[in-house]
Amino acid sequence: MTVTNRMRGVLYRLDASIRVEGSHSRAIADLVEQEWRSIHPEEPIIRRHIGVDPMPARAWATAVFASGTPEESRSDEQNAALTLAATLTDELVSADALLFAVPLYNFGVSQHFKAWVDMVIADHRMAAGAEPIMAGKPAVLVTVRGGSYRPGTPREGWDHATGWMQRVLADVWQLDLKTVEFTLVGVNPALDQFRDLARRQRAEAEEQAIRTGRQLGAAVASVEAVRTAAPLRSPGLDRTAV
Ligand SMILES: Cc1cc2nc3c(=O)[nH]c(=O)nc-3n(C[C@H](O)[C@H](O)[C@H](O)COP(=O)(O)O)c2cc1C
Repeated sequence: MTVTNRMRGVLYRLDASIRVEGSHSRAIADLVEQEWRSIHPEEPIIRRHIGVDPMPARAWATAVFASGTPEESRSDEQNAALTLAATLTDELVSADALLFAVPLYNFGVSQHFKAWVDMVIADHRMAAGAEPIMAGKPAVLVTVRGGSYRPGTPREGWDHATGWMQRVLADVWQLDLKTVEFTLVGVNPALDQFRDLARRQRAEAEEQAIRTGRQLGAAVASVEAVRTAAPLRSPGLDRTAV
């Protein structure tokens, strides 16, 4: 019999919408989460609602300067900022899969998501040049926007958020990232002429979210199966008893 002291199938979910009611990014991410839940019904979900509970404004600069300050000389504020950076990183590291729901705001990345990423990178384990400790971890980015910036549209290239988020999550942190994108054309009355397109895009985004959630759950379930068959020996990760 295999006994493990670490929970399996923990999902981390981050929401960056500044609203709770009526949020499309939450609704699409809910579909991913539901599919995950169908495969991992019991395991906890670690949640961060950074759009309504943002990072403290001074925390990032404080953490950056604290890193260059000898431990014994750090102020309480510096220690608190570094503790926050470590806590955010621990949450990511302890999860088996990650789900980020981040809308487009003002043609750029949500300030709350940028502040959160900056705080995570302020932790020494996530600093530039450190070994990527989350390489290969399955992750989903759900991103929602009001208008289309696809090739051929008048504002092609104006979405300065999605590429940046993918750069950080897939290239810097080396997550195994899938992106679900949804454009709201047709929800906004000014774009009524696109109502059919909107309906189609919504259906496509929902299907994609369901498919991606299933894949996310299955990816971790298959890793669990392998681990159970051949338990890891590293202390602190797995403890096995016969
Ligand atoms: C303040 C604000 C700025 C926005 N800026 C943009 C934008 O630049 N481009 C865009 O396509 N949509 C923009 N939107 C639309 C949002 O991306 C869209 O409403 C999205 O659904 C918001 O996420 P939520 O539904 O999860 O709250 C903006 C919305 C708000 C509230």
